[in-house]
Amino acid sequence: MDTRPVPVAGVVRTAAAALARAGIDSARVEARLICAHVLGIDQSRLISADGIDDAALAEVERIVAARTGEKVPLQYLFGRAPSGRLELSVGPGVFIPRPETELLVEWVLARLPAPGGATRPVIVDLCAGSGTIALEIAHARPDAHVHAVELHDAALQWLRRNAEERAAAGDTPIEIHHGDATDPGLLPELRGRVTVVASNPPYIPMTDDLPADVLGHEPATALFGGADGLDVVVPLVDLAASLLAPGGLLAVEHDDTTGAEVAAIVERQGRFGTVEQHTDLAGRPRFVTATTPGDGGHDGHKVDDDNDEVDTTVQKGTAR
Ligand SMILES: C[S@@+](CC[C@H](N)C(=O)[O-])C[C@H]1O[C@@H](n2cnc3c(N)ncnc32)[C@H](O)[C@@H]1O
Repeated sequence: MDTRPVPVAGVVRTAAAALARAGIDSARVEARLICAHVLGIDQSRLISADGIDDAALAEVERIVAARTGEKVPLQYLFGRAPSGRLELSVGPGVFIPRPETELLVEWVLARLPAPGGATRPVIVDLCAGSGTIALEIAHARPDAHVHAVELHDAALQWLRRNAEERAAAGDTPIEIHHGDATDPGLLPELRGRVTVVASNPPYIPMTDDLPADVLGHEPATALFGGADGLDVVVPLVDLAASLLAPGGLLAVEHDDTTGAEVAAIVERQGRFGTVEQHTDLAGRPRFVTATTPGDGGHDGHKVDDDNDEVDTTVQKGTAR
């Protein structure tokens, strides 16, 4: 029997054709990602790889079959997902971090008080899932005291695992809370003490159509926010208002159809001053930010309104 490795280019071609037949967008990109993952190399090295042996070929075929048949998300099949400057563990039960959330994280990081101030910034990530927001902030700002809140057990397990991995890699450990972000009494010990509340809550309106790999695999509790997508957002904004210190910041991601509603919810809450709507890189409304009045004893926020990569403000308003 001939057990010579099969040339990589042919395996990529065959995998891409199978993925394309199953209606998967970017079939060739995915085929290259799968082969690189199985070989444990960067995609850029595929062209110079020796070939794929029988065991690796079987693994490529297994992943392609799961992707084309059950439409399992690639990130679940790899067990890992990129998350800004990090890579996190993901699998069934947890929402896969999305690139849109990076904009919110960058916005927060650009506005945290400079390191070396009198007090450590306190960050609360509500609806933390894999921990993407909390862990990226802890990675970029070792001086920050980061708290992550998650309600659902399966997601909580991934959050704990990722937090342990990042702490083992040298990041400042984050504090995990098993709690409900719609509970107005949550985190009483942090009342009025928080520098930033950041959140990517479940926000998709119940009526939305979603691709099979999202709907069939990612938890509904991570996706949907009731009929209008705002069930979690409304009480979460109230909780944020009670947690934030004077001069604190709120950043909430939302569905691209509910930007104006979320801004209005924040304004109506009454505790916030400037409320801003931001778009994502595709120009769709994506997150709302707001500040509580006062300077909170901070050195001032590092605001750079000319930085388009970070600040994607489309509209500003003042609540009071
Ligand atoms: C859209 S996912 C976002 C996860 C993560 N922040 C991210 O950006 O990838 C929403 C998360 O909120 C969690 N969740 C849903 N309702 C919640 C609640 N009432 N309190 C806390 N977490 C909640 C879900 O389990 C899910 O992990």
